[in-house]
Amino acid sequence: MHIISFFLVMLKIVFCYKSQKVQRGSDVSLRCDVPLMSKSSTLHWEKDGEQSPNSTLMYNNSAYIILHTVDERSEGNYYCRLMENGRVQTVRIHTVNVTSYSQNKIHTIYRQSGNNSDVSLIFKSKKIYHRLRWTWEQSPKSQIDLIAVEKGIEVQIKGPIEPGRNSSTTYTGQFFIFHISPVNFNYNGTYRCITETSTYTTTILRTIRVSVEPPDGVLRNQSVVLTCEVSEVTDSVTLVWFRMEGNRGVLVKQQIMTEKNNMLRLTVNLASYETDPLHWQCAVFTENTLRALAPITIS
Ligand SMILES: *[C@@H]1O[C@H](CO)[C@@H](O)[C@H](O)[C@H]1NC(C)=O
Ligand SMILES: *[C@@H]1O[C@H](CO)[C@@H](O)[C@H](O)[C@H]1NC(C)=O
Ligand SMILES: *[C@@H]1O[C@H](CO)[C@@H](O)[C@H](O)[C@H]1NC(C)=O
Ligand SMILES: *[C@@H]1O[C@H](CO)[C@@H](O)[C@H](O)[C@H]1NC(C)=O
Ligand SMILES: *[C@@H]1O[C@H](CO)[C@@H](O)[C@H](O)[C@H]1NC(C)=O
Ligand SMILES: *[C@@H]1O[C@H](CO)[C@@H](O)[C@H](O)[C@H]1NC(C)=O
Ligand SMILES: *[C@@H]1O[C@H](CO)[C@@H](O)[C@H](O)[C@H]1NC(C)=O
Repeated sequence: MHIISFFLVMLKIVFCYKSQKVQRGSDVSLRCDVPLMSKSSTLHWEKDGEQSPNSTLMYNNSAYIILHTVDERSEGNYYCRLMENGRVQTVRIHTVNVTSYSQNKIHTIYRQSGNNSDVSLIFKSKKIYHRLRWTWEQSPKSQIDLIAVEKGIEVQIKGPIEPGRNSSTTYTGQFFIFHISPVNFNYNGTYRCITETSTYTTTILRTIRVSVEPPDGVLRNQSVVLTCEVSEVTDSVTLVWFRMEGNRGVLVKQQIMTEKNNMLRLTVNLASYETDPLHWQCAVFTENTLRALAPITIS
């Protein structure tokens, strides 16, 4: 009897276990599903020995979490836990392993624009290079240099985006960071780190912007318009407005955006009596993958 239940537990863990090697500097999105969930149960992600971060989005019968700009601190086991009637059950274990270097295929990241947002673009290589530069293309064939460094020379600032505090300031040949802070909506485009011989790493940055109308707080009897906008899409992207109940998202409106849409935005009109739940989030999905969350509070 004991042996059988032990075997079933093992089978279950093995069945729900996934290990993934991810590119340094990219965003990683984790998801776990349960077939049935009661209203009173909750689902969340937590990491080895860390307090469960509040960053899980619970929606339908799934829990989502996004790890931004992964590095060695992101490595480890992530557990998806179901809490039901005071019992905790682990439904999935996901091991994240980050590559040592940032060389790889192109990756796309989504960031909310705003004064408190930032993004770090990371070059980390095994080989030592003598010349490195970070470039930006806001539109095709418009490549400009942002910062450049050469052995024996200080970092030179060239471009229109002022490097954030965490940008590299000295030459190392193997490590070169361009930190963008804050992220403006029009900072979307393609960023590349180029060595003396080739392009080493490429990141496509897409920006999202959320706003509330009227902007300076609303009276109880006023209606409100929430807008969520994405800078560009290729293939298809789904924008969703969620009304938040704790970490649980209640879908209010969703729309698939394609390149053909000329307005890449989703608005919801709320009557005064609907504005009571003050916390809202706009989510960006590609297929079933959550790519970004942009919260907004109605005051
Ligand atoms: C969530 O559930 C609703 C209704 O059951 C369904 O229409 C929708 O496609 C689901 N969304 C996702 C992302 O699975
Ligand atoms: C990550 O992968 C490397 C090489 O495959 C391995 O040596 C290392 O132990 C892995 N780390 C974790 C945390 O699994
Ligand atoms: C963002 O910062 C700029 C400059 O410091 C300021 O003018 C603007 O009001 C800020 N915006 C918000 C939404 O806080
Ligand atoms: C910037 O650098 C500080 C100190 O090194 C670090 O704590 C922080 O996490 C970094 N921020 C980003 C966005 O990388
Ligand atoms: C909302 O209430 C304020 C003060 O309570 C009042 O002055 C205003 O006319 C009201 N607006 C609407 C649209 O009812
Ligand atoms: C960046 O966003 C702007 C405004 O939404 C858009 O016109 C432009 O095409 C985007 N740039 C790229 C490289 O997609
Ligand atoms: C985290 O979640 C708890 C319970 O849902 C909530 O009380 C708390 O304010 C949240 N903290 C943050 C920083 O969102």
